[in-house]
Amino acid sequence: MDGAKTNSKAVDLVLLGPPGAGKGTQARKLQDRFGLVQLSTGDLLRDAVAQGTEAGIAAKTVMERGDLVSDEIVVAILRDRLEEADCQSGVIFDGFPRTTVQAEALDNLMAESGRGVGAAISLDVDDDAMVERISGRFTCAACGEGYHDSFKTPANPDECDQCGATVFTRRADDNAETVTQRLVAYHAQTAPLISYYGSQGVLRNVDAMQDIEKVEQNLTAIVEETVA
Ligand code: AP5
Repeated sequence: MDGAKTNSKAVDLVLLGPPGAGKGTQARKLQDRFGLVQLSTGDLLRDAVAQGTEAGIAAKTVMERGDLVSDEIVVAILRDRLEEADCQSGVIFDGFPRTTVQAEALDNLMAESGRGVGAAISLDVDDDAMVERISGRFTCAACGEGYHDSFKTPANPDECDQCGATVFTRRADDNAETVTQRLVAYHAQTAPLISYYGSQGVLRNVDAMQDIEKVEQNLTAIVEETVA
């Protein structure tokens, strides 16, 4: 697949799936192809932690445990970001919502601006694959492009394919113990959103055990149908 942008009307998408399902990997591809904005609450929270804001200080230990940050903090951060100009023509929500309270808050925020979730796409994966995916993950420190020790390596091992930077980072919560707790949190608090969006008639499922390119093809087809 090339990275050409598709001329499309505004659309808002939710990517659902457990840690390591490929939400961030695929959101970046859809962002490039459809001119949407990837809005990752994980990234927003990590920025808040790095900046030492009040929300970041409260979130830090919760994230290190692999638990969910409070709905109040996450919705406030999300609301502020959603009001920015670049988000007005369509957003890919990556890692949000994660609870029914967050899903209802998103519905209300969208309704206030005459928008709505066009599709909630569940990336379906086996729990067993997640630890391997997450423990092998690393990211370009300059542009954020994601890689994997086995599944997606840079063409030149020391250089980012996208921007040529040579520094890569690994996330503090990408260890086996925390991943296990993140999976527990996913099944207890986030998996019920599959029924939530099913009852709204916007749920789509993608087999995310396929390779990255095949998952991208499936997602692209769904987004093209959604914007048509
Ligand atoms: P967050 O940053 O959202 O992390 P997560 O949901 O645990 O998801 P990940 O980023 O780990 O995985 P991903 O699905 O994006 O996978 P990726 O594409 O990188 O949240 C972190 C923490 O913040 C939470 O634990 C919580 O504390 C807090 N938080 C965030 N949002 C919150 C909210 N809304 N409410 C409350 N708390 C919140 O892929 C993983 C690896 O696999 C990569 O190396 C990739 O190259 C590889 N890969 C991807 N797809 C494939 C494939 N098809 N085949 C093989 N390898 C693949």
